[in-house]
Amino acid sequence: MSTLDEIKKPVADHLGIFEKKFRSSMKSSVPLLDIITRYIIKRKGKQMRPLFVFLSAGLNGNINDSTYVAASLIELLHTATLVHDDVVDDSNERRGFFSINALWKNKVAVLVGDFLLSKGLLLALDNNEFQLLKIVSNATREMSEGELLQIEKARKLDIDESIYFEIIRKKTASLIASCCASGAASVGSPEASVDRMRQFGEKVGIAFQIKDDLFDYEQSNKTGKPHGIDIKEQKMTLPLIYLLNNLGRSEKRKIVNIIKNHNTNPDKVKYVINQVNQSGGIDYARNKMATYRNEALDILNEFPDSETKSALIQLVDFTIERKK
Ligand code: IPE
Ligand code: IPE
Ligand code: MG
Ligand code: MG
Repeated sequence: MSTLDEIKKPVADHLGIFEKKFRSSMKSSVPLLDIITRYIIKRKGKQMRPLFVFLSAGLNGNINDSTYVAASLIELLHTATLVHDDVVDDSNERRGFFSINALWKNKVAVLVGDFLLSKGLLLALDNNEFQLLKIVSNATREMSEGELLQIEKARKLDIDESIYFEIIRKKTASLIASCCASGAASVGSPEASVDRMRQFGEKVGIAFQIKDDLFDYEQSNKTGKPHGIDIKEQKMTLPLIYLLNNLGRSEKRKIVNIIKNHNTNPDKVKYVINQVNQSGGIDYARNKMATYRNEALDILNEFPDSETKSALIQLVDFTIERKK
């Protein structure tokens, strides 16, 4: 597997300029906000979304100022949703360190998330990027819908595979789809190409979230996020859904009871995790992930070979093989 740095190579200069723009897009004269945004910048993530934007733009034309706006807008939005997500999931760890809510409490985290979202929207408006705004606003709507659908299902625990896929398509794949669509749109691609890139991003995004959900079952993952938190939050992800679909009535009732009533008991949670592992649920999820990877690559193969295309192929593989 190529490292992320290797994959970034064809657009490394663009990513360097992007980082400066991204940093300055967060500026505020409110001291508390400035402290927090500096904290966020110091613990930056993998920046896979800007990478998807630049590579998708390069695949379809010449990277330009609009591409930079798209990359910054999407990374701002992504950062905002992570800050909010850790409030929603009551999670104290992000990128290997304390989450914003862990350090500054929920009320501050909610407002910081809103601030970042507004900065993204203003950035697009200031540059008259209406097509971009349309692509990304739709993704934002879908992300909130996905998160809320997940909460609804966590309360009732009545989730089947098709609902799982609807949740992850909305909460995660929609934003990655918007990276690829807006990258293509930024270089003036025709509508049909923009939509094809959106479909590509959606496939990768679904694989991306299946991978994220698999991390939760790893004893010692390197993601810098807590492990076992999904069961604690009664989040039914693909490996667990598979287990429940393949159990007899009484075993199933036992597992559901643990998720409902004993989800903070470490031994009982460990029992569920072991059951998932023994059921073949992990392999099942890996296979599904591979199917989405293949479908994404099929779309890429409609394009002529180029350095950018091969970087994108590697990025798809990185998405499902990454260690964090
Ligand atoms: C985390 O995304 C949120 C999910 C959709 C699972 P990333 O894993 O891309 O987060 P960072 O930006 O690299 O921390
Ligand atoms: C994905 O949700 C993040 C968003 C779509 C906001 P998760 O809750 O599964 O992501 P992590 O694992 O906390 O990054
Ligand atoms: Mg969440
Ligand atoms: Mg979370």
